[in-house]
Amino acid sequence: MPEQPVIVSADGVTLEVSAPAEGILRIRVGFGALPPGESWAVPKPRRGGAIPLLVLDTPDSVVLRTETMEAVIARRDLRLRLSGADGAPMLDDATGRHLEFAGGGFALRKTMPADTHYFGLGDKAGPLDRRGGAYVLWNTDSPFYGAATDPLYKAIPFFLGVTEDGCAHGVFLDNHWRTSFDFGRGERDVLCIRAEGGPLDYYVLAGPDAKSVLRRYDWLTGPAPLMPRWALGFQQSRWSYTTQAEVEAIAGRLRDGAIPADAIYLDIDYQDRNRPFTVDGARFPDLGGLASRLRGQGLRLVLITDMHIPHAPDAGYAPYDSGTAEDAWVTDPDGAAFVGEVWPGPSVFPDFSRARVRAWWGGLYAAFVQLGASGFWNDMNEPSVFQAPSGTMPLTSVHRIEEPDFLPRKATHAEMHNVYGLLNSRATYEGLLVHAPDRRPFVLTRASAAGGQRYAATWTGDNVSSWDHLRLSTAMVASLGLSGFAWSGADIGGFGGPRPSADLLTRWTQIGAFHPLFRYHCMTGKPAQEVWADGPEHEAIRRRFIEERYRLLPYLYTLAEENSRTGLPILRPVFLEFPAVLKAPLDAGDFMLGDALLVAPSPVPESPGDYEIRLPGPGWYDYWTGERLDSMSVTITPAIERLPIFVRPGAIVPRQDVMQSTAEPVAGSLYLDVYLDGREAHGTIYTDDGESFGYRNGAYLRRAISCVAHGRGLRLSFGARDGSYPPWWRAVQVTVHGWTGEAVVRDAAGEAISSSVLACPRFTWMEREEADAVTIGPA
Ligand code: GLC
Repeated sequence: MPEQPVIVSADGVTLEVSAPAEGILRIRVGFGALPPGESWAVPKPRRGGAIPLLVLDTPDSVVLRTETMEAVIARRDLRLRLSGADGAPMLDDATGRHLEFAGGGFALRKTMPADTHYFGLGDKAGPLDRRGGAYVLWNTDSPFYGAATDPLYKAIPFFLGVTEDGCAHGVFLDNHWRTSFDFGRGERDVLCIRAEGGPLDYYVLAGPDAKSVLRRYDWLTGPAPLMPRWALGFQQSRWSYTTQAEVEAIAGRLRDGAIPADAIYLDIDYQDRNRPFTVDGARFPDLGGLASRLRGQGLRLVLITDMHIPHAPDAGYAPYDSGTAEDAWVTDPDGAAFVGEVWPGPSVFPDFSRARVRAWWGGLYAAFVQLGASGFWNDMNEPSVFQAPSGTMPLTSVHRIEEPDFLPRKATHAEMHNVYGLLNSRATYEGLLVHAPDRRPFVLTRASAAGGQRYAATWTGDNVSSWDHLRLSTAMVASLGLSGFAWSGADIGGFGGPRPSADLLTRWTQIGAFHPLFRYHCMTGKPAQEVWADGPEHEAIRRRFIEERYRLLPYLYTLAEENSRTGLPILRPVFLEFPAVLKAPLDAGDFMLGDALLVAPSPVPESPGDYEIRLPGPGWYDYWTGERLDSMSVTITPAIERLPIFVRPGAIVPRQDVMQSTAEPVAGSLYLDVYLDGREAHGTIYTDDGESFGYRNGAYLRRAISCVAHGRGLRLSFGARDGSYPPWWRAVQVTVHGWTGEAVVRDAAGEAISSSVLACPRFTWMEREEADAVTIGPA
């Protein structure tokens, strides 16, 4: 087997190619000897792996082949042409100058075939399809951003190219300096990737389709953990609930109003003078008592813990004193701690690129974990610095890299800026595991980078209460999902700006109920923006949608677990399931939740006008009525109490009864809605204890569910039991949509368990270990 990497040089430039896994090529280019190839995004075993390669040397080129990819490198100018094993073009260097190195940075130019659409780069606010746009990756605190504001909070140098017939490839640039991606804006049909410094080290990921690319990206940068189940519940936040009594009143109102909810957040005002890891004892005299009373009501407490540490020498402020003793701070070039202004006033900044500092940071959580807080929120970690013209610390500030897998060295902030948020959330995540090794941490971070999905969920930062922002929220959450961050959401109702109108908050609640993270949040000083703030009619509509979210938890949790194994997002742009939609202009309104549900708000949600939904195929169902639609095109007359949702034929969707919190034991039945595609449908259900890591040792239950043709009827069955966790249901309530005619349902022994209902058999099935199948068919 040929040695890897394969190295080709021309004019002093070295190009190295290796194949860490099937369908992934790593390409490194530079002058002379290449740098060591360290990475914050790609764990060492991944980037160092090597699968068998075939190498052909010819006088003009070197050709590398794996089962799925071929790379042809021209000896003369290192021009690189990548194709699939079948010879289908994948990614080619552009004509003209395809490589430039200048001023410590580089530019790489690739061709953009006319039929390819581009997606990814994290939380960008522009159109979902990046073709024709140019974007900068530089983590930035961008309050009240607009559709054209760039950059925003996260830097994820990964994108997908997808053709209208669904062929896809991906590119991940493993470089966290300030980079830019121009998708044909500066130069027609040319993709230009630039970096201001750091290595030219990139991976090309093969398809064949977009889901395969996402799986490969997930393999490379690491999966998101399975978050605790409560994180899928409704979360109530605002900046800020300022007293303990106010928090108790909010909790009481949620429960009195029968509004299902799982978490309440405390923003910066619970702290003493905005100092992280303190509590203002006058306003929150008993935070532990509060946490345990909330817990008794099925509500988790989530605390903000910003990473700036007030510069408070000799003040008895433990995080500053212990951090100083640890020599934990990012410094100026002269070695003194860098001091910048944030919420607490002049502050210092932990240098998370040192493993020791991350361990020290994690230690700060001990008391809060002990008093019963369940989740933590890492904000402002771009890092944001007030009054600095750049909004962050100087590029010359000094970090020290002291990390297994890296050569110890100093690094400037220019290099470390974009991974600062990732390393902050990593320190939090790993610290929480030390304090509670068998509890899945919930960390919410604002800034992050490629691979940051391993540690935290995220949100789209400081949006605005406007219809435009409601529209943006789905596209941003979809883009984050294509960039590794399946766990994301937007501040529902809008963070800044004037208070949302009643209709806007209601619409946002309806749509947000189907986003992965479902959190109300708004800025300080705004009038009340809770579910009940606009009177009983709006409260009732919002409650109904929150309840629907809880009914769907078995489906959502199954998707979350799938994400943790495969990297497939929970919320998906429609093209991920049905690439043919790329043939028409993309409509930012509709999206898929998993592969079964199409959520279809109006593309102009403020408009009372009718709109048209074109379903991706025939035979879809109306989610709310269960009826099969005769047409692929549906005209919708909007009504404030309704949000159209459609179900893919062939899906089986698991649901449960409404509960007030995921803390309640799931009781009652498992509901299975079977939506036939002809005489066939398939689904899966996954469950576990929702909180511990027991599932890693087999304490989970995953079962495929299938409904297939059987004689003149159907056979509905559970697949083999995977995992040892007991099911929470005792009975399964089945509804078969799309069956026409009379039906009798019989258990495995042939006994009738229900008789004839026209068109829509509905029956209760007492699932037993030995009889996990029923037949449905004519008498
Ligand atoms: C930042 C956050 C926002 C938070 C505020 C106060 O603006 O993005 O969510 O409420 O800081 O902590």
